[in-house]
Amino acid sequence: MLTDRERQRIEAETRLYPHPRAAVPEALKIVQDHRGWVPDEAVKEIAELLGLSPTTVDSTATFYNMILRERAGRHIIFICDNVSCWVTGYEVLRDHLCRRLDIALGETTADGRFTLLPAACLGECDRAPAMMIDGEIYGNLTPERIDEVLAQYD
Ligand code: FES
Repeated sequence: MLTDRERQRIEAETRLYPHPRAAVPEALKIVQDHRGWVPDEAVKEIAELLGLSPTTVDSTATFYNMILRERAGRHIIFICDNVSCWVTGYEVLRDHLCRRLDIALGETTADGRFTLLPAACLGECDRAPAMMIDGEIYGNLTPERIDEVLAQYD
């Protein structure tokens, strides 16, 4: 069930748009801010609140790869696999992260600390290769820099 705070934030966001459908991405982000992911039940409740079908809300949720439809780790790592990052070392960094965390892309560590996901361009091409953890962008990555960054997260 949507909490009062989630409902209030979604309603406030909806008032900013001419059509409730335009508020769906923000509504999904609000739920994810509060819970760390967006469960099926929340998709249905957002749909009901905005007067849309659950399919409409779900299709938006699945379109945006930064909306998580499954429970994830405490910290979400998005590693960019787009062109600038690809040509500046993406594969080496992805393999390093997978080895360090002992998971494959798309998985969560056994201790629930990190989930590792691919991302399209993070808008940080001038500092490629790049990754984002919990909304914080890290660029000019090397395996050593990744180790330093990971140590900052409990
Ligand atoms: S291609 Fe990776 S940040 Fe743009």
